[in-house]
Amino acid sequence: MLEPQIKNTKEENYELSLRPKNLNEYIGQERIKENLKIFIEASKKRKESLEHVLIYGPAGLGKTTLSHIISNEMNSNIKATSGPAIEKVGDLASILTNLEEGDVLFIDEIHRMNKLVEETLYPAMEDYKLDIIIGKGPSARTLQLELPPFTLIGATTRIGLVSSPLRSRFGMTYKLDFYSNREISRILERSAKILKTPLAQNGTLLIAQCSRKNPRVANRLLRRVRDIAQVKGTGRIDDKITRLAFEMLEVDKKGLEPADRNLLEVLIKKFDGGPVGISTLAAATNEERDTVEEIYEPYLLKIGFLQRTPRGRVATKHAYEHLQLEWEKNALDI
Ligand code: ADE
Repeated sequence: MLEPQIKNTKEENYELSLRPKNLNEYIGQERIKENLKIFIEASKKRKESLEHVLIYGPAGLGKTTLSHIISNEMNSNIKATSGPAIEKVGDLASILTNLEEGDVLFIDEIHRMNKLVEETLYPAMEDYKLDIIIGKGPSARTLQLELPPFTLIGATTRIGLVSSPLRSRFGMTYKLDFYSNREISRILERSAKILKTPLAQNGTLLIAQCSRKNPRVANRLLRRVRDIAQVKGTGRIDDKITRLAFEMLEVDKKGLEPADRNLLEVLIKKFDGGPVGISTLAAATNEERDTVEEIYEPYLLKIGFLQRTPRGRVATKHAYEHLQLEWEKNALDI
């Protein structure tokens, strides 16, 4: 069944209100925006639904936001669900048969769809047809239902886990990249305006530096610093109150939090800096393997604190230096 589209917590509402609603408000990912503008305009001119779109990249970089924007720009309705939420073929059938012409169907974590559901999706994507098998054994029959033209937007953090038959059915595939500090600064300034929070330039720069090149992290830090500025300061965010806030939140200069530092410390102290297999590292840090791979690793790889080698994860000299641990030659030097 369709999941509730919006979780109704206050934080989520904030998150939603900070989200840009159209491509012009969306900061960064310039090439993707340019491309999308053209394809959206062309489909609108032809009065056709947009071809299916696959968006991938690390968590928090804007896959869901961009999907809502595409639907807005197409003047369409969006129905949102996720790969693991569609448990049975019947669930997918009910979602698809409830679509109206031009609707956007957003499937988050599309790599986690089960195989039977995925195979049912192929003809729906290709020919807007739904094949349903009724009955079992020799008396089983196939029923084919026509679907209205719709646009599937799939999102995933793990493009490698999307099968090639599924990938090939998307007309466009976009990879979201980490944001530059300048782009994160612009996002922070926009968000501060919406939250009606005075933000000094030195505050913007410091928060941007610690935001892991990630808008979701940036907006979360902005809200926490804002809380602290309201209670412990004047309400205005500058570098001084931001420093105090980051001390309380245990966010360091690179934006690493205790869990990131713990991962690196375990890798260095328990495994001599690696190489160590991902499952072993996850077990040693009491984290799920997926959490390590999808939440912690992408940014640590991006800033060069971690490397993936054929024999496992290895900490780099930069990681040792950042944690003020003595650098010892490890697998990377051999
Ligand atoms: N909020 C979160 N991501 C954003 C983006 N890319 N542009 C503007 N505001 C955002």
